[in-house]
Amino acid sequence: MASSKLLLFPLTTLLLLLATPRALAATPVAPGPTPAPLNLTGILAKGGQYTTLLRLLDETQVSQQLISQLNSSFNGLTLFAPTDNAFSSLKAGTLNSLTNQEQVQLVLYHVLPRYYSLTTFQTSSNPISTQASGDSGVYTVNVTSTSNQVNVSTGVNDAPINNVLYSEFPLAVYSVDSVLLPAEIFGVKPPAPAPTASTVPSKHKKTPVSSTAAAPAEEADSSTNAARGRSAGWAFVLGFGFMSIVSLF
Ligand SMILES: *[C@@H]1O[C@H](CO)[C@@H](O)[C@H](O)[C@H]1NC(C)=O
Ligand SMILES: *[C@@H]1O[C@H](CO)[C@@H](O)[C@H](O)[C@H]1NC(C)=O
Ligand SMILES: *[C@@H]1O[C@H](CO)[C@@H](O)[C@H](O)[C@H]1NC(C)=O
Repeated sequence: MASSKLLLFPLTTLLLLLATPRALAATPVAPGPTPAPLNLTGILAKGGQYTTLLRLLDETQVSQQLISQLNSSFNGLTLFAPTDNAFSSLKAGTLNSLTNQEQVQLVLYHVLPRYYSLTTFQTSSNPISTQASGDSGVYTVNVTSTSNQVNVSTGVNDAPINNVLYSEFPLAVYSVDSVLLPAEIFGVKPPAPAPTASTVPSKHKKTPVSSTAAAPAEEADSSTNAARGRSAGWAFVLGFGFMSIVSLF
């Protein structure tokens, strides 16, 4: 028995030495540099005059939708970005008079579900689908170009594109000096009696915007951990087997 105790020390040392390079090899390799993801809110924040739009994108959860679309769409996206001035020149109370659903539609009306460079607008035919839709179907804009001006019109109002904030596939962001007003929400309606406090309709519930959850990336890791655990277990079984054989001599 004394001989087996003497053997135990060098054997465990040997096993530890054998296990060490394995543990080092299993350390995850640092991933190489990946291109910085497109940051839509960052582009707008850098522009400095889109705080109302940023707030609306956030409140309506449209920004999350756009971010996941940018990651999955083959067509890209175009966003018309009304400035803070554009929002403040709306008739007072305009935004607050909209239901949550209408606010979502208004924001989505500023999104075209594909990337348009300024030159693509010259060859595209009207009307152009936006990402907003309602009972009457998809809401559209018309985009017309002259030699040095691109003009977006809704049927209610129009706005020239006056600044390119970003334009590289898959994303184009164009600054506009007016909030684009969809006819479906702001078009001429038969005059209705002025609402009083008791007849103001309650706002719709926020409609959750579908977003694709990122798939968990843990599975591969846990299975390699399990494999590592198993092989460590076998090393011990073999070690003790070897030890008891040696101790017979
Ligand atoms: C995008 O930019 C904004 C503003 O610069 C910043 O707060 C945010 O963390 C950025 N998001 C990502 C995912 O980089
Ligand atoms: C933009 O379009 C509207 C309506 O079609 C028109 O009245 C306006 O003159 C146009 N503006 C420019 C700069 O082309
Ligand atoms: C948009 O363009 C189409 C096709 O040119 C035209 O029929 C339609 O009346 C235009 N709509 C608006 C709102 O200007």
